[in-house]
Amino acid sequence: MRKPIIAGNWKMFKTPDQAVSLVNELKELVHQDQVEAVVCPPFVDLPGVLQAAEKTGIKVGAQNMHWENEGAFTGEISPLMLTALGCEYVIIGHSERRQYFAETDETVNLKVKAALHHGLKPILCVGETLEQREAGIAETWVEGQVRKALADVLPQDGEQLILAYEPIWAIGTGKTATADDAGKMLTHIRGVLKELFGMEMAEQIRLQYGGSVKAENIKELMEKPDIDGALVGGASLKAETFSRILLF
Ligand code: G3P
Repeated sequence: MRKPIIAGNWKMFKTPDQAVSLVNELKELVHQDQVEAVVCPPFVDLPGVLQAAEKTGIKVGAQNMHWENEGAFTGEISPLMLTALGCEYVIIGHSERRQYFAETDETVNLKVKAALHHGLKPILCVGETLEQREAGIAETWVEGQVRKALADVLPQDGEQLILAYEPIWAIGTGKTATADDAGKMLTHIRGVLKELFGMEMAEQIRLQYGGSVKAENIKELMEKPDIDGALVGGASLKAETFSRILLF
C-alpha cells in the first residue's frame, strides 16, 4: 500500500517568522499519520521550519536546488546544503522554474539524479500547457517529460521518487483538472514507470496531482487508484485550508 503524501509548495511566500507560525498552527490542527504531510518553504525559511516541524511528523522539503555539490554558481543552493540542514524532499522541475528560469528536461534530469544521489527525495513535476491539452498531445508531452527527467535513473532508486502531475493551466487558476482526467494521466504515467523501472517498483512510486487542489476537491481526486497525494500551492499557505486538505 502506498502511503498518501500531500505537500504544500509555498512558492515565494512567507518570511521566516511567518513560515514558523504557519507550521506551529498546522501542528495544532493536524494530528494524524495516515497521510505524509510535507511543507516546502522558501530556502531562507528552511532552518526555522525544520526546527518547528521537529517531532511533529511534518516533513520538510526545498523548492529547487542545483545539481553540483558546490562551485561558482551565484545564487544557487546545493544538495549538500539541503541535506546538511535536514531536508528530506526537494521539488524538481516545477513548471514555474521551467517557464521563468529556463529549466530544461536536461537540467531537471541532472537535478533528479543529484537529489537521489544525496538521499533527497525528489518531487518531480511534469505537466502540459492548455494549448497542448487542446491539441490532444497532453499524454505524449507528459510522457516525454517523464522519460527525459528519469533518463539513467536506476530502478532501485524509484522508491525515493515522488512524481507530481501539474497541468500548467490548472495552477493558481482555480481550474482543477477533473478527477477523471487527472487520474487518467497518472495511470498513464504509472504505465511509463512500469516500463522504466519494472512493475513492482512502479507500483510503489507515489504519484501526486497538483493544480488548484482544495478541501472541496481533494477527496474525489484521492479516490482515483493512481492518485496518491497532492502538491498544493495557494491552499497550503493557510493552516486552516491546508489542514482541511491534509485531513481529507
Ligand atoms: O506546486 C503546486 C502548484 O503549482 C499548484 O498551485 O495554487 O494551483 O494549488 P495551486
